[in-house]
Amino acid sequence: MNKTYKHLKLSAAALALSVGVAQAADVEVLHWWTSGGEAAALNVLKQDLEGQGIGWQDMPVAGGGGTEAMTVLRARVTAGNAPTAVQMLGFDILDWAKEGALADLNATAAAEGWDAVVPEALQAFAKHDGKWISAPVNVHSTNWVWANKAVLDANGISAPTTWEEFVAAVETLHDAGVTAIAHGGQAWQDATVFDAVAMSTGGPDFYKAAFIDLDPTALGSDTMKEAFDRMAFIRDHVDENFSGRDWNLATAMVINGEAGFQMMGDWAKGEFLNAGKVPGEDFLCFRFPGTGSQVTFNADQFAMFDQGGPVSAEQAALASAILSPSFQSAFNVVKGSVPARTDVSDEAFDACAKQGMKDLAAASASGNLFGSMAHGHAAPASVKNAIYDVVTAHFNGEYDSATAVTELVEAVSIAQ
Ligand code: GAL
Repeated sequence: MNKTYKHLKLSAAALALSVGVAQAADVEVLHWWTSGGEAAALNVLKQDLEGQGIGWQDMPVAGGGGTEAMTVLRARVTAGNAPTAVQMLGFDILDWAKEGALADLNATAAAEGWDAVVPEALQAFAKHDGKWISAPVNVHSTNWVWANKAVLDANGISAPTTWEEFVAAVETLHDAGVTAIAHGGQAWQDATVFDAVAMSTGGPDFYKAAFIDLDPTALGSDTMKEAFDRMAFIRDHVDENFSGRDWNLATAMVINGEAGFQMMGDWAKGEFLNAGKVPGEDFLCFRFPGTGSQVTFNADQFAMFDQGGPVSAEQAALASAILSPSFQSAFNVVKGSVPARTDVSDEAFDACAKQGMKDLAAASASGNLFGSMAHGHAAPASVKNAIYDVVTAHFNGEYDSATAVTELVEAVSIAQ
């Protein structure tokens, strides 16, 4: 919708209100939730808003991790036609806030007491200069493995807890002629796996030094080379059609028993649930081997774009709907994530989410909660994209591990 049209619509709504007729404007929402599980979760939000008389104009931009969505957003804003609300991750939110593009949600946040219930780790990305500039909808984490239980049982495998056990399980499946690892060869997916592999290889101090502090010593270390060697092992145990595959199609391979494992954030669980599968019976969820005490998180938020005036009534209503405890429960049960508030009961959630909520609280309390590099919560997009390039080039055999380490140090230094 162009701006002129939107203004016409808003004045029509104002006129309708002034004569006592209830009518609300639409919200246009840009997002990348296009898989079956994601769309089911998004419907929870659409219906919530429709219940309040707010219409939904869908602006989906396919592409997991949101890289393509962020390109479309930049074009829209440059053309002076920003969407009402945009799904966004971590540092991207802060980058847009610094440009002055985001509406101020402080009035809604204060009225509803967001400060007291949204975890600090999320507030770090939802506030800028003392102002709330986005509404957190969930907390995902990237260091999960999803497994087909029947495939594991048939091969005498139980959930591995260390890298060595994982290697043994993968080799058992491989020897049995089963695709061990379902993977989609896209840069953001390679990087999602790398998040967990790096954490497992070097531990939390190493992860923080490399991806959050961007310390050249950690980036250039033997530990990093070992992490790349582990990525090469994973590369050797994916099927030959992995290149370019969408993440949800890789999840479908595990759902259908065509592969044993997928390393992916807990949005993968939304696909299992959408296919009617039950955790513990049909599939298993467990932390990436060697990362049992750590959580690498990413939180989806909806940033409200400044429409040329104070925050609009629809934007405030959308933000308020997103933060409501009942919505946080209903949405996250379907999405695979956990609530962005600390005061939501885990009662409605399945076993994987209950574990996710416990892990998140424990990791936060013990200093083991870190932003996901792959999903924009460790470093700004320029650095993230530089890491993507090296990880993907290595995964596709362009670099050996030693070269990848050298390239990584250089790429991160140039990107800052
Ligand atoms: C992540 C996002 C998730 C999920 C995933 C795959 O970046 O946080 O909500 O959508 O991409 O699309």
